[in-house]
Amino acid sequence: MTDDFERMWTDLTPVGRSAASGGYFRQPYRGAESELRSWFLEQATARGLRVESDPVGNVVAWWAPPGVSGPGVLTGSHLDSVLDGGAYDGPLGVVSALAAVDVLRSRGFVPAKPIGVSVFVEEEGSRFGLACLGSRLAAGVVPWRDALALTDRDGTSFEDALSSAGLGAGTYEPWDLAATVDCFVELHVEQGRDLVDRGAAVGVASEIWPHGRYRFDFTGAANHAGSTRMEDRQDPMLTYAMTALAANKQARLAGQRATFGRVEVAPNGTNAIPSRVTAWLDARCSTDAGLASLVEAISGQATDRADRDGTSLRVTAESVSASVAFDASMAARLAADHEGGDWPVIPTQAGHDAGILSAAGVPTAMLFVRNPTGVSHSPEEHASMPDCLVGVSALADTLERLAR
Ligand code: GLV
Ligand code: MN
Ligand code: MN
Repeated sequence: MTDDFERMWTDLTPVGRSAASGGYFRQPYRGAESELRSWFLEQATARGLRVESDPVGNVVAWWAPPGVSGPGVLTGSHLDSVLDGGAYDGPLGVVSALAAVDVLRSRGFVPAKPIGVSVFVEEEGSRFGLACLGSRLAAGVVPWRDALALTDRDGTSFEDALSSAGLGAGTYEPWDLAATVDCFVELHVEQGRDLVDRGAAVGVASEIWPHGRYRFDFTGAANHAGSTRMEDRQDPMLTYAMTALAANKQARLAGQRATFGRVEVAPNGTNAIPSRVTAWLDARCSTDAGLASLVEAISGQATDRADRDGTSLRVTAESVSASVAFDASMAARLAADHEGGDWPVIPTQAGHDAGILSAAGVPTAMLFVRNPTGVSHSPEEHASMPDCLVGVSALADTLERLAR
């Protein structure tokens, strides 16, 4: 069984990997991600799983022995990555789910409920800006017409991206979650160092912090970098620069998180004051009210500074996820009674499809696998092979409890 996981992991290692950085570029509906999707379908077919795909490319590969039907136990994750991301965020959950099915079969386990291995598309929102787009559509919390209005950085519409990937079908029907999904378990690499500090290879999630992405459009006046006196400028770069500092300071004061990780400058010339700067704020807090007040404080300081700079500012919320408390009794049940002691139950500041399904009423749990450095969304993201294998067997034990 060890072989199954390692072989699959080795298959995926080169797909979408940058030779320059060692990081991954697996954006939805592009070459590498499509290759991963084909790989997943081959793995499902090789195991005799029944594959169901929806028009945006969300896939479930079902293991339903004869006579077993009804809502199933879903487990899986995503295959897309952030730009220059790590190998584990997403694929670890998918490969572990396939390997866990193999483990259960080798144990002779016959599930009393179908077990489905799922892959949701565009979890990272790295192409169309809306995180967990696939699971939000499946859960019916994003209207289809809003999804169709999305475009990527090159101006390609979501609809055109679907059609060039051979997907899309005019309309989209959300999944009937009550009829198809009894519960969901997502295994994921931990994106912090909590498990390292606790000396545990696996843990269970208690909650996801509320988080959101906000587009800040700063507008000024383009002018000559040499002949425009410093006091005559309306420079949106200055307003943006102060806003980035303010975001960092506000988040530190409140013990929360704020990041500007993406900026676009127009016209982006060395010898011209920019006419426009667009920057994206990623903000995360332990409470919904805290998130709202953090974003309000940053926006307020940015607006004051825009007044002083003679620039203007518009703030647009592009992707906001409220706090998620996972099913506490399910988490406690899954964490308890293991050889070597209970698994720790820990919160996460990262967003996941599991959060979307949980908010849609599906009993949901997450398993985390230790990440020795805690680094994630970076080529440095890592989990050791022994810990990954502990994760597979933890997932197999979990599925056995849930599908018994
Ligand atoms: C997803 O990984 C996120 O938290 O941004
Ligand atoms: Mn991620
Ligand atoms: Mn992820």
